[in-house]
Amino acid sequence: MNAPMPTTHDDLQDLPSYPMERDDYVNPARALLTGPPISPLRFVGGSTGWLVTGYHEAREVLRDPRFSAERWRGDDAMRAVPESIRKERSSGAGSFLAMDAPEHGRYRGQLTRYFTVRRMRQLEERIEDIVAERLDALEAAGKPADLVRHFALPIPSLVICEMLGVPYEERELFQSVAAQLLRQDRTEEEFIAGRAALQNFLHTLVEAKRKEPRDDLISLLTAVDELTDEEIVGIAGLLLIAGHETTTNMLSLGTFALLRHPGQLERLRADESLLPQAVEELLRYLSIVNAFPVRIALEDVVIGDVTITAGQSVAVSIPAVNRDPALVDDPDTLDVARPRSSHLAFGYGIHQCLGQHLARIELVVGYRGLIRRFPGLRLAVPPEEVPMRSDMVIYGAHELPVTW
Ligand code: HEM
Repeated sequence: MNAPMPTTHDDLQDLPSYPMERDDYVNPARALLTGPPISPLRFVGGSTGWLVTGYHEAREVLRDPRFSAERWRGDDAMRAVPESIRKERSSGAGSFLAMDAPEHGRYRGQLTRYFTVRRMRQLEERIEDIVAERLDALEAAGKPADLVRHFALPIPSLVICEMLGVPYEERELFQSVAAQLLRQDRTEEEFIAGRAALQNFLHTLVEAKRKEPRDDLISLLTAVDELTDEEIVGIAGLLLIAGHETTTNMLSLGTFALLRHPGQLERLRADESLLPQAVEELLRYLSIVNAFPVRIALEDVVIGDVTITAGQSVAVSIPAVNRDPALVDDPDTLDVARPRSSHLAFGYGIHQCLGQHLARIELVVGYRGLIRRFPGLRLAVPPEEVPMRSDMVIYGAHELPVTW
């Protein structure tokens, strides 16, 4: 029987605090893996909610429309947000990650055709060119070099900039805003300031594209009658941030994991046809999305033997869910030849990642390029000295010093 939500002050203090630090460079906190599939938790901001670590339970929550993705409600559970700031913060036109149906579908429906498997395959050749250029840049940087700076960060940034029609020269702005917005301890003031800087930049860009459309996604969106500039700015901001932070960290953390499992790396070297399933396995094993999704119950919902009451928040731990034995056997083992699993690294339900096919291609082409170009690739520092992103919503490595 799962624990009921505690009610007394002392009981609340005893609850595990969420998000939790990982046990080591990759494994989720043990406490996440050993508890019941749904249990009470205390968010770092102080309020209480439910933690879902079971694979089946997570799918139930993420596909159930009685749970809202409306971001600010979830955030308010995670952090202690002053009332004065709530109103100012919540104007997120177009940012559909934080919307429920039917509003969510109005925006996502405008984009799905640009992110299909077929469309993404058409981009593959261009992605290969970008990866080749970044391999040259990594080599030119000289040994030792930071793989994040020269390889993992530029590849997805260049790709999403080209798709959207954002000048890559302006990357400093959106990369630094992303770095600020995704810090776990960022203040609401920092959030508002960072988002305003990004919105101003994108507003100017959208205006320019309305006057002189080009062959890019933002220009295509300006041709959709029912979308306002504010909405296009919101959509573009979401794609720009979601499109580079996540893949960057998969490229670098995936490389780190393979360097720490040389046998697995050798298998990939010996048989490159394993790469697509190796990417799925790395997505499952690393589960870089650390501190969301969080959903809010719109009414009382029974999941398993727990009743989540209206207004309570539910955090799904993707790292834990993807290590549930209900998903795969021997979940703590990295096995690049494992048959593709139905992992939740890209989420589930109506918010399942729009850019997943793009991410998969970037990862296959990126890892393949590294493996071919640098047969002697290795860490340039002891693994314990790699600075991990325990302070960020998206996990990974801040830097990855490598040599070859
Ligand atoms: C390895 C890379 C990636 C990972 C692990 C990842 C993970 C996720 C996850 C877990 C969600 C669901 C969030 C939720 O339910 O609250 C999501 C949503 C989303 N992702 Fe990704 N993502 C990746 C790459 C990308 C890329 C390259 C794009 C570029 C376009 C992208 C765009 C989006 C968008 C727009 C959503 C919101 C979808 C919706 O609300 O309908 N992601 N992603």
